[in-house]
Parts: sequence; structure tokens; C-alpha cells
Amino acid sequence: MKSELNSRDWRERLSASRDLGTGFAAPGGEFTRALYEWALTDRGNFLKDLLRDRRVVELGAGMMPHGYALAAVCGAKNFVAVEPFYSDLQKNSVTGLIEERGENLNRIPYKVEAVDMLEYLQREPDELLCVLACGIEDCILPGLDYRKKVEGELCRVLEKDAFFLSSHSDLYPLDLKSMEINFPRPSNPRVLDRLRLHGGAEAYEKYGQKIEALVQAGG
Ligand SMILES: C[S@@+](CC[C@H](N)C(=O)[O-])C[C@H]1O[C@@H](n2cnc3c(N)ncnc32)[C@H](O)[C@@H]1O
Repeated sequence: MKSELNSRDWRERLSASRDLGTGFAAPGGEFTRALYEWALTDRGNFLKDLLRDRRVVELGAGMMPHGYALAAVCGAKNFVAVEPFYSDLQKNSVTGLIEERGENLNRIPYKVEAVDMLEYLQREPDELLCVLACGIEDCILPGLDYRKKVEGELCRVLEKDAFFLSSHSDLYPLDLKSMEINFPRPSNPRVLDRLRLHGGAEAYEKYGQKIEALVQAGG
């Protein structure tokens, strides 16, 4: 089993993840990328306001470096990629991106945590983080009970004036207010992506007007 989790073939990792029961190693690849590329557009530039100087954590970061790229481009304080099944590839891809972009990419401290999201969040203190989840649909997670526990932890760990940013994700913390912004996927504008912003009163006091304007402007 251990070696299957290190396999070069993602299908073997997916199969091994089924036996573990802590989530599925479905590869993804497009969702975090879409959000990163949107942040580079005039409208998506707003993400810089949300992430600047934050401790940004991505749940289920996958194999690609787009979560790091998003946090770096937005001037986040640091970045943690939580990824239980592809942490080796996640590390390699961030290292590769940093080497490739050199001076052209703002560098921020980062780490990759090879644990499942519930275990990771349970270790974090209260009210410190800004959290990102892209492509974390119900079919990825081990079940409803697990999802509810993660949603509870999200409410606890979120910095008071920060958001949980969720795109193509079924994580939906009901104790937080949420708003949804549609945007055309930069790499394929025929696809409309949806970003949900979940936050408390302080987050909406600070950024609510701008979000409302983006919602009204449509996709
Ligand atoms: C559909 S992919 C999305 C990857 C990336 N966010 C993207 O948009 O390209 C889902 C990711 O969640 C990871 N995953 C599965 N179960 C998980 C869990 N319990 N905790 C954290 N990540 C998990 C998978 O290994 C996979 O990389």
C-alpha cells in the first residue's frame, strides 16, 4: 500500500487512497489554476485584497503549484499546501515554478503538509488563517460526517476578517455568510467558474461592498 501511494501512476494512488478511507486522490488540475489565472485579470485582481498579508492554506492542493502562485502573486504572508496523496509532486511543482519564474515571481515562505485536511485543521489555533479549497467536491471526501467536521474547523480557524474561498467545492460552512462570484475561466472563457466567499461579519464589513459590486458585474 505504501508504495502505491508513491506510484508514478495516479490511478494506483487513487486506488490506494480508497483503502485508507480519508479521501480520494482524484487528480484535478484545473480549479486552483483557474482561480490563480483569474487573479491576474482586472476583475480578479480583487483577490489580492483578500489574500495580502494572510496566512493562506489550501486544502487538497493537488500536484500543481497554482495555490502557491496565487498566494505569492497576492502578497500573502505565507502558504501551506495540504495534500495527503500528491505531496511529493506538489513540492516538486512549487520548486520548479520558483526556479522557472525566478525574479519575476514574488517569493513567500511555504510548506507542504502531507496530511488530510481534517487532521491539519484540527492542529491549527483559532482565528489565524485564510483558507482556500478548489475542486473539493463530496466525491473527494470520505463522507458527510467528515465534511461537517471540516466545516466546523473552518469556522474556528478562519481569521475574523478573512474568507474561506471555495471554488468547485462542496465544503459549505453554514455558520458563515456566503456570496458567490462567477467568472469566465481565463484559459477557456466558455467555461464559467464560481467562487464562493464564506466569511463572518468582520470580513463582510471590510470587503462586502466590493464583493457586491463584483457579483453585480456578473461573469
Ligand atoms: C479534484 S483534486 C483538486 C486539486 C487542486 N485543488 C485543483 O484544483 O487542481 C482534489 C484533491 O484533494 C486531495 N484530497 C483528497 N482527500 C483529501 C483530504 N481528506 N484532505 C486533503 N486533500 C484531500 C486529492 O489528493 C486531490 O489532490
